[in-house]
Amino acid sequence: MIDKIQGFYGFTRMPFRRDLAPSMLHRHAGHAQAAARITWCIAERALGVITGEVGAGKTVATRAALAALDAPRHTVIYLPNPAVGVTGIHHAIVTALGGVPRPHRSTLIPQAADALATEYAERGRVPVVVIDEAHLLDHEQLEAIRMLTNHDMDSTSPMACLLIGQPTLRRKIGLGMLAALDQRIAIRYNIPPMTGVETASYLGHHLGLAGRKDTLFSEDAVTLIHDTARGYPRAVNNLALSSLLAAYSEDKGIVDESSARAAIAEVITE
Ligand SMILES: Nc1ncnc2c1ncn2[C@@H]1O[C@H](COP(=O)(O)OP(=O)(O)OP(=O)(O)O)[C@@H](O)[C@H]1O
Ligand SMILES: [Mg+2]
Repeated sequence: MIDKIQGFYGFTRMPFRRDLAPSMLHRHAGHAQAAARITWCIAERALGVITGEVGAGKTVATRAALAALDAPRHTVIYLPNPAVGVTGIHHAIVTALGGVPRPHRSTLIPQAADALATEYAERGRVPVVVIDEAHLLDHEQLEAIRMLTNHDMDSTSPMACLLIGQPTLRRKIGLGMLAALDQRIAIRYNIPPMTGVETASYLGHHLGLAGRKDTLFSEDAVTLIHDTARGYPRAVNNLALSSLLAAYSEDKGIVDESSARAAIAEVITE
């Protein structure tokens, strides 16, 4: 089936795939702004919070910024899921820095702090701790992160720390009890959805990667996809792919508004 679709539309690969190399990403404003702020945060060894709705492109922007780092001078510690408790975070840090985690929490926490400091001071590498899905962090974990960034009487930090998550993360940190963490945040950025113009360019970009440089989606189909997906990349991808399949099933060379409408009807009744 995929071969037939590729042949029918003249694709060199299927469009709207997720496995994009950093050089293949679309640089709309929200993406570029988020990546630039992450880069700055790492250069300053600061604490940053990047939020965005589901599918806004948070993980993709983070990956893009991390891929552009000078590898020998940074040690990236990426935690995809914080549902590992306080000790889980410290355990991951010690392990990533080549240590053997101590079994008890009372010794593991200072061990992680020491490992971060040593990585920077003795090996000349900035540890970059990235916690994705950070809206799932609990209060105790957020406090633990504050303690880790609270190095050397607060004057400098040996590491950069990025908390990436859904918008509820901002509210969570903003709650009074976490004021001390809140004050340490050097950058905070909420990734906005794409504008209509950006969505059109985004679709064109994905189709271009698949080998089609000419118009394949009609203007009103693009508008409908943008409005329904509210400009969020993952939803745009999903709707664009379903619209393409709807057009293909009717032997249409152009994905028009009625194909997009059929795709949306499918998604909504699911
Ligand atoms: N700049 C971009 N260029 C190309 N595709 C992108 C870009 N940003 C996002 N995407 C597409 O959107 C999808 C969702 O992005 P991503 O996984 O970064 O979202 P997220 O904000 O981390 O979502 P979640 O809250 O579910 O973790 C990606 O898999 C990719 O297909
Ligand atoms: Mg993500």
